[in-house]
Amino acid sequence: MSAPAVVLIGPMGVGKSTVGRLLAERLGVGYRDTDDDIVAGQGRPIADIFVEEGEPVFRALEKAAVRTALAEHEGVLALGGGAVLEDETRASLAGQCVVYLSMDVEEAVKRTGLNAARPLLAVNPRKQWRELMEARRRLYEEVATAVVATDGRSPEEVAQAVLEAV
Ligand code: S3P
Repeated sequence: MSAPAVVLIGPMGVGKSTVGRLLAERLGVGYRDTDDDIVAGQGRPIADIFVEEGEPVFRALEKAAVRTALAEHEGVLALGGGAVLEDETRASLAGQCVVYLSMDVEEAVKRTGLNAARPLLAVNPRKQWRELMEARRRLYEEVATAVVATDGRSPEEVAQAVLEAV
């Protein structure tokens, strides 16, 4: 079975898509993003899926999208920020090259702000970021084979750091 060259995980807004595309270019492989797969499959934005169906339905769609992408994709694969919440997803990342792009909460608030397209941050971004990061940091660390800090670094610098880490 094929496996992605690199799987990128980490919180929303950390730059998984931008860094992932740069990385794919430098490695000469394709780039894939499970959020894009879900949007394409559902024909509507993620925010609409959250509002119309609720988070559990989104998580089920995400779990299936990750399973498919892990089995099919051989390039750089970026997962949505909450994908690691699913036990099955964390288990399926065992043995893969998984890079956790990290950032601190203040950087996260600065980068994402009050963003209606990111339904989990719609009300009080700083408080919600703290809660999200407290709940998720250990899950990212549990599955990561490398951690790359992004604070104060450009996407190019982060991509270079990922290349050196893998
Ligand atoms: C989410 C992150 C988003 C998207 C959805 C939920 C999360 O992906 O999957 O809005 O729970 O952190 P990005 O990390 O690509 O923004």
